[in-house]
Amino acid sequence: MTVTITHEGAIAVVTIDNPPVNALSQALRQGLVEAVSAIDADTSVSAAVLICAGRTFIAGADVSEFGKPPVPPHLPDVVAGIEGASKPWVAAIHGSALGGGLEVALGCAYRVAVASASLGLPEVKLGLVPGAGGTVRLPRLIGAAAAVDLVTSGSPVDAAKAAAMGLIDAVVEGDLLPAAIAFAREAADKLGPQPISERAVVPVEDDFWERAEKVVAAKARREIAPLRALACVRRATEADFSTAMAFERETFLELRGSAQAAALRHVFFAERAAPRPPELAGVAPRAVRSAAVVGGGTMGAGIAAALRDAGLPVVLVERDEAAVERGLANISQIFDASVKRGRISPDVAAERLAGVVGTDDYGLLADTDLVIEAVFEDLAVKRAVFAKLSEVCRADAVLATNTSYLDPDEIGEGLARPERFLGLHFFSPAHVMKLLEIVPAQATAPDVLAAGFALARLLGKIPVRAGICDGFIGNRILKVARAQAERLLLSGATPAAVDAAMRAFGLPMGPFEAQDLGGLDIAAFQRKAARERGETPFAPVADRLCAIGRFGQKANAGWYDYRPGERTPQPSDVVAAIIAEEAAGRPQKTWDDAAIADAIVLPMVNEAALILDEGVAVRAADIDLVKIHGYGFPRWRGGPMHYAQARGLAEVVAILDRLSASGLAEPPCAALRRAAEDNGFTPPGGP
Ligand code: NAI
Repeated sequence: MTVTITHEGAIAVVTIDNPPVNALSQALRQGLVEAVSAIDADTSVSAAVLICAGRTFIAGADVSEFGKPPVPPHLPDVVAGIEGASKPWVAAIHGSALGGGLEVALGCAYRVAVASASLGLPEVKLGLVPGAGGTVRLPRLIGAAAAVDLVTSGSPVDAAKAAAMGLIDAVVEGDLLPAAIAFAREAADKLGPQPISERAVVPVEDDFWERAEKVVAAKARREIAPLRALACVRRATEADFSTAMAFERETFLELRGSAQAAALRHVFFAERAAPRPPELAGVAPRAVRSAAVVGGGTMGAGIAAALRDAGLPVVLVERDEAAVERGLANISQIFDASVKRGRISPDVAAERLAGVVGTDDYGLLADTDLVIEAVFEDLAVKRAVFAKLSEVCRADAVLATNTSYLDPDEIGEGLARPERFLGLHFFSPAHVMKLLEIVPAQATAPDVLAAGFALARLLGKIPVRAGICDGFIGNRILKVARAQAERLLLSGATPAAVDAAMRAFGLPMGPFEAQDLGGLDIAAFQRKAARERGETPFAPVADRLCAIGRFGQKANAGWYDYRPGERTPQPSDVVAAIIAEEAAGRPQKTWDDAAIADAIVLPMVNEAALILDEGVAVRAADIDLVKIHGYGFPRWRGGPMHYAQARGLAEVVAILDRLSASGLAEPPCAALRRAAEDNGFTPPGGP
């Protein structure tokens, strides 16, 4: 049974048991309606406790019902039923009370929670608004300002914060059930609170909504749900309960069918699937309980911090004592910044740093389970590191390279026990960025590959398997995007116009601003290496900028000029002159935002189709995750592959054909044309 009723004297205990997260399935909703009737009719009962078995309170909607026609009883009616019960219900919360779960709790007369519980309305993260009175009851309970924060951010709060804002009535010390029963006994003896639906909202200041709208719009960056959620809270404060409920429901139903909700659902499911790829089902990962990082520069320090954040003991190996000190200082800076942002306490920071042993002695790695190499991007240096690791590490230790562009098979050549070797490609800053490309080398054993995925789970990262090619999935597509951005410059667009168009598309930054921030030198170095290999990378303007030392913000000059000490990009006459010289003799045209975005994004899709066809990516959705979590592709567009499918692959092919006819892009590849005909991407070997 999903919902059962037991009795503790005059208190009815309603227990929900719907593993794994007590999601609000139809059976659960039905069970709750029946429980209300049964308890109302039972004269021996004076109050009820609503509690969940397993690891959490109701953690939200049943995702398996997504996209299907809703089956009664509908959640708003269930919540209304609990609120209208003739005896007080006490929600006893542990784990997460999210979305519909919190809305059910808002139907109860009281809410108590253990200290570790979290409560929130994450619907906006799926492109929705709450659908069962969340936006209407919350302002009546905690006031408009706190309700706006909770509903428009989608972020949960912990029990202490929930108590402070009046969202719950008590934080329970010790065992939840007996405490909730005791609370219910007291509640039964007194006059209950007014149902939330009957309460008035405390009025807000005159300009409150205007200000809130500005803040929410700026954060939402063209995502529609947060502003629609704000509108619901506003309506809840200005209209009577039932009008506001109708408005919320209408908004919910409208958004449920929206393109953004479809995209966000796609990403949600892709993220859920990513940590456990079906190809590795049943493969037990090689155990990783301790880790080491070789190289304590930008990436090594970030990786070491991420490993410590996840609780692993870490050895940091550097070249000499001075470099060890620098590496440890880099890690220390990361933890200090977390303290400044209020993410961790100074004590926790000290404990995390103390868990890193810095050394220039590889001998300390004799018993380490996992070693991640993050030294200079130089084949000879990396090979020398792995030769040493071969000597000192345990035969079953997992050895990984964080290379961006080198071929892991070449790095691992000559390694003893090559089955333990793989690529683990982190993104900068490594303790923040969620993406982890996992790159099996030729000899990588399945349990070592599985260890990569297990590590990602431990670090809270999104793992994506990538095959070996220049740049793996993410940087290979990035290269195409950058080349396209330069093609646009040669045919009439300015850096500022391209950047503005890509921001309008939803990226946090345009391609030229981003290069200035990161520095133009790394890509220049890669182009040099590519030319030495006989390739012909296309970056006529960037090459000239690098030749005169315009490496970006760090040089106060890159694609833009920067005033000393400032980071605001200023259009540069020098750059404009170089562009004009490079563009001489080429046809010029005027570009609007949409045309610019097409000329950059659709060639990315074309490259992605090749990547999928070559088997470098296993699934189209994996490519979406790479671009969203590694490169700022707007989540609400679902990633480039989802975007292309939603746009229509035939249209994508037609636009690429037009661009390529004018020399502005490569022609669409056969795989993309095939996908357009099949109406979807299927990797080789079937779906
Ligand atoms: P970095 O130059 O900041 O750090 C490299 C560190 O390795 C230095 O501290 C150096 O002292 C140390 N090192 C060099 N040889 C060593 C040896 N034999 N033994 C021990 N330590 C040694 O470089 P960064 O940016 O951290 O890059 C490291 C690796 O990560 C490269 O392969 C790079 O391609 C890759 N990567 C870089 C990303 C980035 O955004 N910077 C992103 C993803 C990967």
